[in-house]
Amino acid sequence: MQSFQLNERASTVPPVLSYDRKGWQTGYRSLKEEFDYWIDDIEGEIPPELHGTLFRNGPGMLDVHGQQIQHPFDGDGMICAIAFDHGRAHFRNRFIRTEGYVAEQAAGRILYRGVFGTQKPGGWLANVFDLRLKNIANTNILYWGGKLLALWEAAEPHRLDPATLETLGLDQLEGVLQPGEAFAAHPWIDPACNQDDGAPCLVNFSIKPGLSSTITLFEFNPEGKLLRKHAHAVPGFAFIHDFAITPSYAIFFQNPVSFNPLPFLFGKRGAGECITFNPEKPTQIVVIPRHTEPQTAKRDKLKARIFETHAGFVFHHANAFEQEGEVVIDSVCYGSLPAVEAEADFRETDFDALAPGQLWRFRINLQTQAVQQELLESRCCEFPYVHPAKAGRSHRYIFMGAAHAPEGNAPLQAIVKIDIETGERQLWSAAPQGYVSEPIFVPRSSAAFKNGLPSAELVGAEDDGWLLTLVYDAAQERSDVVILDARALDQEPVARLHLRHHVPYGLHGSFTPHYFESESTDNG
Ligand code: CO
Repeated sequence: MQSFQLNERASTVPPVLSYDRKGWQTGYRSLKEEFDYWIDDIEGEIPPELHGTLFRNGPGMLDVHGQQIQHPFDGDGMICAIAFDHGRAHFRNRFIRTEGYVAEQAAGRILYRGVFGTQKPGGWLANVFDLRLKNIANTNILYWGGKLLALWEAAEPHRLDPATLETLGLDQLEGVLQPGEAFAAHPWIDPACNQDDGAPCLVNFSIKPGLSSTITLFEFNPEGKLLRKHAHAVPGFAFIHDFAITPSYAIFFQNPVSFNPLPFLFGKRGAGECITFNPEKPTQIVVIPRHTEPQTAKRDKLKARIFETHAGFVFHHANAFEQEGEVVIDSVCYGSLPAVEAEADFRETDFDALAPGQLWRFRINLQTQAVQQELLESRCCEFPYVHPAKAGRSHRYIFMGAAHAPEGNAPLQAIVKIDIETGERQLWSAAPQGYVSEPIFVPRSSAAFKNGLPSAELVGAEDDGWLLTLVYDAAQERSDVVILDARALDQEPVARLHLRHHVPYGLHGSFTPHYFESESTDNG
């Protein structure tokens, strides 16, 4: 087995940085205005076949009337919608009117503690035993079953109007969730579920952490009706942000962390700051069968199985698939947890002191229980993405945000494409002044979607499509929607759509071939 050393590259960091810290920092400013306009400042041409809506979520508010939040993960969720039709694009952004957002904006000050360390003013006395969670709805956005849902992993989704982005309220998914119940921010669309005669289904999970943790798996049909829901207890405290699926399994990496709630209870730290990463401890890989009906006489086949490996800390998985008795999963791993330090300013992050995220492949042998691992990409990377037809199936390409330099830890300034078959890499870099976000792959052919959902059938090559990403341009202090040709990533973008303002660094998004646009008032 290959040794797992992620942390030994600091000495090879090139002396000249590809970015400047001051410029990078300016991407962490609140965007308080809400816009609604046709994008008219465009370099290149929007492909006329590109039809649909790109939704993106992320913290839009980094301060509440001047009171800085402690960590961007605590920022109120703001949705951007970029709607493409006939070579034109329309931009709209709206904050999600969560209970906390509405109350804090009305009060003009911070009223809630954040999971990642934001405290109410007034020291620990003002925060002690205030264990309310502020559902900030800031992590992902999904269109499913006729609903647009803003996701935050520790509570239920907020439903929005897909055309206006108006907040319609909390959504318990037709009674599937209890009020306040968790629903993760990383759903997968299985493009052809073998339990549903090949129809697509949505697979997501929730975590109830504790001394023993519970993982609940949910599957929904295209109308949004619950198909399957089952819960599994796993030993120990679980901090799990993402997962992956295959046709038969859901796979979770239970990071080696421990949780000491006392500083949180006593009002000194956020809950997320009470998690300690133990890099010397193994990661538990939890493999849960997706089937709920007993396929065989062996009921054990429906039980969660746990495998062990050393994976460092994992936020995101690129994809998983089954191959010859193995489950293969590609994941971005950190040799250390990007620390959420009390009282540290996230804008002063010392990139060189942190381990970069790197892409690893894990092969889990379901018979022998052996887990093998192989480094696929050592360049600092995050936000992996594959062709939607390949969800749960063997993929050739992975697209990711990446650092400009091949070594060391740095902000994401480039998009990288990895060809697993040939080992070839293609890279488009926005350095030195550009900072990228998650690249979202959109297949070129409209036949890649059936009834608005990804089809399992590959139409054209696996890289025949576009990558859509928001790029913050620190030189202009504004953001661009960049459209890249995924077949020729190293060439100039197909189009750069200059927005009239910046968009703070975001988290995740999704594309739907539905075109959502209400009458624009062009207040931009
Ligand atoms: Co995520």
